[in-house]
Amino acid sequence: MAVIYPGSFDPVTYGHLDIIKRASKKFDKVIVTILNNPSKKALFDVQKRVELLENTTKHLDNIVIDSFSGLLVDYAKKNDVSTIIKGLRAISDFEYEFQMAHTNTMLDENIETIFLMTSNKYSFLSSSVVKEISKFDGDVSKLVPEIVEYNLNKKFRGDI
Ligand code: PNS
Repeated sequence: MAVIYPGSFDPVTYGHLDIIKRASKKFDKVIVTILNNPSKKALFDVQKRVELLENTTKHLDNIVIDSFSGLLVDYAKKNDVSTIIKGLRAISDFEYEFQMAHTNTMLDENIETIFLMTSNKYSFLSSSVVKEISKFDGDVSKLVPEIVEYNLNKKFRGDI
């Protein structure tokens, strides 16, 4: 079975990679797809986010990296996939994810969302936290792969 793992991935973190790795063991194919949302200001453009995801998942052979705009249910239908994977970090994620999962099923009754609990190690981690730390010159080496750290440094300091 193929599943879709959607998100902003701005940028990809070890938390996302944990979900991708675990999903890749359970499902035949995992389509990691980045929302291209021009109204939300992202740090990295979609092309760079695709590049970082491709680079950090290249050791897994059943992962496809893609991007989409518009409704997720339309993207799922176009790709003939009816299962969405999301990571759940903490109770605070639940309300938002609950709303999204039900909205998606309301829009398309074939859509089912499966949640994977993020490992304890990454339960506090988000792309926003990573950006905040890196912006103020903090160490993000335990939170993101080296190539992501490199690109964060380049973005915020342009000194490399
Ligand atoms: O990483 P994020 O920002 O939590 O990902 C959110 C995402 C991309 C999964 C969600 O915003 C989404 O699916 N957007 C597409 C628009 C859509 O389908 N909206 C209706 C469901 S609420």
